[in-house]
Amino acid sequence: MIVDSVLTNAKAYLKGEIVDCSIAIEEGKIQKIGKETHMPKADQIIDINHKLVLPGVIDSHVHLRDEDKAYKETFVTGTAAAAVGGVTTVLDMPNNSPVTMSSETLHNRMEIAARRVLVNVGFYSEFPTSAEKIGAIVEEGAVGFKLFMAEQVGGLNVDDDQAILESFTQVGKLGVPVAVHAEDHSLLKFAVENFKLRNRHDLAAYLKAHDENAELAAVERIIDIVGKAENSRVHFCHVSTQKSLSALAEAKKSGKAVTVEVTPHHLMLKKDDYGSLGVSALTMPPLRSQENVDALWKGIEAGDVDTVGSDHAPHTVQEKDASSIWDVKAGVSGVETILPLMLTSVHKNMLTLAHALELLCEKPAEIFGLAEKGRLEQGKSADLVVVDFNQKFKIDASKFKSKAKFSPFDKWDVQGKPVMTFVGGKLVMDEGEIVAKAGSGTVIRRTLP
Ligand code: DOR
Ligand code: ZN
Ligand code: ZN
Repeated sequence: MIVDSVLTNAKAYLKGEIVDCSIAIEEGKIQKIGKETHMPKADQIIDINHKLVLPGVIDSHVHLRDEDKAYKETFVTGTAAAAVGGVTTVLDMPNNSPVTMSSETLHNRMEIAARRVLVNVGFYSEFPTSAEKIGAIVEEGAVGFKLFMAEQVGGLNVDDDQAILESFTQVGKLGVPVAVHAEDHSLLKFAVENFKLRNRHDLAAYLKAHDENAELAAVERIIDIVGKAENSRVHFCHVSTQKSLSALAEAKKSGKAVTVEVTPHHLMLKKDDYGSLGVSALTMPPLRSQENVDALWKGIEAGDVDTVGSDHAPHTVQEKDASSIWDVKAGVSGVETILPLMLTSVHKNMLTLAHALELLCEKPAEIFGLAEKGRLEQGKSADLVVVDFNQKFKIDASKFKSKAKFSPFDKWDVQGKPVMTFVGGKLVMDEGEIVAKAGSGTVIRRTLP
């Protein structure tokens, strides 16, 4: 048999150790991993030069924008950024224009994306106004639903727990996970209105409005609803405090189907960093105290954190620079830096490489039903990133492929550089450059079990 390609002189992390091997790829899948002498003949031999081959990162929290928000990011620029960062699959958030919240908006978005994306892309939908319409969205292939609780983005009244329960019950029946941005709308609204009345437009006011209690209140509401909505599963996005994390760890212990995402910015930056970074580092939820940062790392160590996602949320420089803090758009570019930052944490012994791969690849695949992805194994998709594990380099946001060429990690020294990215066996990124055509990526449609 002649396969499509063989990657030779590779090192791969297999069953707990780094081994020298070759990888045969056929029709987008890993056909064989083994000794070079055991490889089939191939149309193409690619010499990996003893670098490390890892499963491509699955970033389950990316805002690709495009459509009417293309001025911030497009499917091309966002997925080019992903490929450069060693991310082979992204799950796209629905707060777009138009909002992804119906089978029509989802269908349309998938069609546009299919012509432009460079990596695999799955799509979340916001909840429609009526739970009856959930079925059609699932049929269209949404990988999950998103509930943004800080304000109403989709059709659900985010203050109405009964309506949320009905929708969660419906997605529970269909076996589709929900991702939740947990910040309580009514608490936030009350605090923001009060600050505005008092003519407070500063960062301290923002941090107070978006404090730990706003997050915890929403986390507790949703934990309660998950307990009532049969078979519902909720992935909590960007958990940022010790309190939320311990509430979620408790909920897990009591058998509730909840999982936890943390972001690199909440793991590696703290509130005090706003002093040097300024409001361009503003995110929702915001950066927290050092105690909370420490708690997130403890949560990783204890196994209470399931995934690391970037919350790649591109905006223009102008949008990050408003005179009132309430007008500053929250969010940072992140898909290009998530893997080097996590590999740097591995070098610093904050976690093992195996654990980083679990958080970045295996668990996201498991939670979002991407059975063919997340691991380097025979039969899985050939979504691979080759990293120069020991290479040190400086993050340079001005060189990002994302339109949002700024980062709180700009100028950081990191170690572990993605040098090649393969998506479905096809080389998409080589030495930092995109070598595939827009549209060569795949739109992922969730198939019902
Ligand atoms: O920082 C954020 N930016 N947090 C969110 O939840 C939304 C996101 C965005 O879309 O810009
Ligand atoms: Zn969010
Ligand atoms: Zn987000």
